[in-house]
Amino acid sequence: MARTGGPCKPTLVRRRRPRYIARMSEPLPDPAPDPVPDPVPDPAVLEPMDILVAPHPSLRRRARPVRPEDRALLRALLPRMYESMYRAPGIGLAAPQVGLELRLAIVDLMEGEVRAPITLINPEIVCASDQLAAREEGCLSLPGQYAEVVRPVGVRVRYTDLDGGGHEIDADGLLATCLQHEIDHLDGVLFVDHLSTIKRNMILRRLAKEQRQKASGAGG
Ligand code: NI
Repeated sequence: MARTGGPCKPTLVRRRRPRYIARMSEPLPDPAPDPVPDPVPDPAVLEPMDILVAPHPSLRRRARPVRPEDRALLRALLPRMYESMYRAPGIGLAAPQVGLELRLAIVDLMEGEVRAPITLINPEIVCASDQLAAREEGCLSLPGQYAEVVRPVGVRVRYTDLDGGGHEIDADGLLATCLQHEIDHLDGVLFVDHLSTIKRNMILRRLAKEQRQKASGAGG
């Protein structure tokens, strides 16, 4: 995440009550052995895409920008990506988490249980507030793991939509956290990378252990 403390001060227009980035009420399916999703899905089926779990290598690569010629594929895949996020349930999902190494993320805070999806193509943080705050985060790619992460309270994010239209969003609170978390994913960064090495390794070891236990439990 790029942090800029320059003259650009985002206007904080959205107030959000604290909630988790992702709340895990049920274990996720096992990580997909093949990180490349079906290239010609039937969007009517709305089959969710498998969400990759750390330490999958796709989660650690820098995703490439979305080009105009990618839009047809994204139009077909986005309904499935949303389905994955809503089913998990989560409030944000980045394309690398479903094995699609493109600069694309989806967000829906589901406030009042009402869907308000935001599809961000090639999003970038254009400025961030100097003020920092800690908020508990979780991630669909680190199921069951949570930690307080310190980030700028407010950010301005620029992105395009699926039709190529440009947008800017000024966010604070949960939305600002969620946007920064998802944009991090596009650079191969996970929320645990903002923690101390000791804390990060503790969480990654715990996750690996839980995943092993889950795999052996599923086998027996
Ligand atoms: Ni995440």
